[in-house]
Amino acid sequence: MLIVENITKTYRLSRKQMYIENATNPLKVAANNVSFTVKPGEIFGLLGPNGAGKTTTLRCISTLIKPDSGDAYIDLGNERISVVHEDDKARGKLSFLTSELKLEEHFTPNYLFSFFGQLYGLDEETIAQNKKKLFDTFGINEFAEIKVSQMSTGMKQKTSIAISLVHNPDIIIFDEPTNGLDVLTARTVTDYLKEMRNECKTIVISTHIMSLAAKLCDRIGIIIDGKIRKIGTVQEILDETNTDDLDDAFFEIFKKAKEEDGGELA
Ligand SMILES: Nc1ncnc2c1ncn2[C@@H]1O[C@H](COP(=O)(O)OP(=O)(O)O)[C@@H](O)[C@H]1O
Ligand SMILES: [Mg+2]
Repeated sequence: MLIVENITKTYRLSRKQMYIENATNPLKVAANNVSFTVKPGEIFGLLGPNGAGKTTTLRCISTLIKPDSGDAYIDLGNERISVVHEDDKARGKLSFLTSELKLEEHFTPNYLFSFFGQLYGLDEETIAQNKKKLFDTFGINEFAEIKVSQMSTGMKQKTSIAISLVHNPDIIIFDEPTNGLDVLTARTVTDYLKEMRNECKTIVISTHIMSLAAKLCDRIGIIIDGKIRKIGTVQEILDETNTDDLDDAFFEIFKKAKEEDGGELA
C-alpha cells in the first residue's frame, strides 16, 4: 500500500519560465498538500492538465526529488518505509517509469537488463527469471542483442520500461504511461499494468487523458494547480458533479477550482 501524506513542493522559477508561464510570483507551488492512498491491486490515476503538478508529485513519491514537506510511505504490512527518510530502502520497493528515459547507446537490452539487475543486488537466477518474463511481455527477445543505437523509438521505450521493472517492484509509478508510444506499444503497456494489478501490485499513473483514466484506473485523483480537487471512482466523481461524462465532470471541477483560487496568487 502507498500512503501519500501532504506532499508540498515549491520551485523557484527562472525569469524565462516566469515569462513563459505568465507568472508574477517566482515561487511556484507545484504540489500543494497532496494526499492520497493506493491499495495493492489498485490502479490510481493522477489526472490533470499540463502543469498541474503530476510529474512533481510522482517524482517526490519516487525519491527523485525531496518534497518541502510531507512524505509518502510504502506500507508492506509488517513494515512502513518513508520515501523521504529511507529513500534507499524505498527505491528497492518502487519503480518510477516514464517513456522519456534515456538508455546508453552502446549497449544491448540483454546487457543493460543484467547490469541494472546487479545494481539492485539481484542474483543471476532472479535476473534471468525477471528478464524472461519482461522480455516476453514486451517482445524484446527478438532485439535483445541489438545495440540501443540501432533500435527504433518503440524498441527503446519497451526496453526502458522492462529495465525499470528489473527488481519486480511492489509499487509501480508510471508518469504518462502512453505518452509518445505508438498504439500497439501503448496497448502492451496498459495490458501489462492490468496484469500487474492482478498480481496485487500497487500502481499509480499520471495522465492528462480522461479516456485513459476512465478505462484503466480504479480510482482517480483530479489535480489542478498543484491541489487535489476530487478523489474517487469514476462513478463517484460523476455522481458528485451530476454529469455522465468524465470530460464534463473535469470541466466542472476545473471551473470550481479556478473560482476557489480566484483570490490566490498562483
Ligand atoms: N524543475 C523545475 N523547476 C522549476 N519549475 C518547475 C520544475 N518542474 C516543474 N516546474 C513547474 O511546476 C509546475 C508543475 O509541473 P509538473 O509537475 O511537471 O506538471 P505536470 O506533470 O502535471 O504537467 C509547472 O508550472 C512547471 O513549470
Ligand atoms: Mg508531467
